[in-house]
Amino acid sequence: MVSLRAALSSTSVLLALLAHSVLGDSPIHPSFPYGSSKVRGVNLGGWLVLEPWITPSLFDNTGNNGIVDEWTFAQFQDRSTAQSALQQHWDTWITEQDFIDIAAAGLNHVRVPIGYWAFDVGSGEPYISGQLPYLQKAVGWARNHGLKVIVDLHGAPGSQNGFDNSGHRVSTPQWHSNQTNIQRTDAIIKTIASMFINEQDVVSVIAPLNEPAGFDGPNVLSAVRQYWYDSYGNIRFPYGTTEQSNTLVLLHDAFQPLSYWDGFQTPPAWQGVAMDTHIYQMFSQDEVSRTNAQHISAACAYASSLSSFDLWVIVGEWTPAATDCAKYLNGRGVGARYDGTMAGADRVGSCSGLTGSASGFSASYKTFLRQYWEAQTSTYEQGAGWIQWTWKAENADEWSYQAGLKNGWIPQDPTQRQYPNICG
Ligand SMILES: *[C@@H]1O[C@H](CO)[C@@H](O)[C@H](O)[C@H]1NC(C)=O
Repeated sequence: MVSLRAALSSTSVLLALLAHSVLGDSPIHPSFPYGSSKVRGVNLGGWLVLEPWITPSLFDNTGNNGIVDEWTFAQFQDRSTAQSALQQHWDTWITEQDFIDIAAAGLNHVRVPIGYWAFDVGSGEPYISGQLPYLQKAVGWARNHGLKVIVDLHGAPGSQNGFDNSGHRVSTPQWHSNQTNIQRTDAIIKTIASMFINEQDVVSVIAPLNEPAGFDGPNVLSAVRQYWYDSYGNIRFPYGTTEQSNTLVLLHDAFQPLSYWDGFQTPPAWQGVAMDTHIYQMFSQDEVSRTNAQHISAACAYASSLSSFDLWVIVGEWTPAATDCAKYLNGRGVGARYDGTMAGADRVGSCSGLTGSASGFSASYKTFLRQYWEAQTSTYEQGAGWIQWTWKAENADEWSYQAGLKNGWIPQDPTQRQYPNICG
């Protein structure tokens, strides 16, 4: 009851509760058969939200080492230079051809990260907006080629995690501690829900916030829980009436074990809620130190938690990469744990031949990438499915679905297996 009382602060949740009593929690009808068909997809990373490691050239070309994220990209260079670089990037990084290629690869979803600054730039915020027409184009391209779209709010005012991929790399993220920030984010989710209200057959999922920093403690988690209640109302009831949308609400686990969320927004009281979890094995010393076999068995070990959770679980980010070697992966100007170039890291080995162009990858490394890819996809399909991070990267082929297809460690048909018993 505490959570319901807290939830009452949102008018849309009031509507939701009213609807529950009127309609008896009627089931919704998503435009993809979640739960019976597997989600297989890619993220369109580094497009509408810049990431230094995905497009290092955009950052290197500025000649300014202080430009480390999209905020500083707009802050520390001539505005018209920044504007035209962004425009050129939006026009070319992803085009309709990518949607054709993604559909041809047997995938059924794209997840499209977008930042709050596409919708709302506050005073004192240097961000350049102009991304929304591209989000609209992406939805049209997805429609043309039979793909479903997950609209993913990847950066919130104040930053929800301080990561460069939230738009603003900061040591003290302030989304959760500032009610103005949260209210601005609620308004953006309402805007997204109404923007695609007539395209629920393509925009089948809205993910209201990527990777809030639950590891920062209970204050973040309580803000996140309240925000998930608000978001449910904003996404499920976009008509201003008790009529429900068919859009799936994709929560993120906030880096908590799935068990932390046991019973949270479960049916029948809540309809069409799924949980997003991100599985990476390179952001700690322990993980980069694993052998290839250990990486594979660690991936396989997720099977039971994914299959037994009480909501559909989509592994919304993961990668066949097993190291943090990709240039700028840990942030521009930050080295890698793997080769000991990050301050305080214990060197595991050389990054040479493990990142960059696949032309430098050995046959045995490519075999490992295939095995690790199969171990992960087959495991994550014991949940509701998977969305690889990411479709393309300038110079980190180990992360690129496109490069994996081209170089053979990702099959042309994602259900095809060379190692059907990789998880034993
Ligand atoms: C809260 O965030 C808003 C921007 O969303 C900012 O203008 C305001 O100064 C912040 N308040 C505090 C107390 O930091």
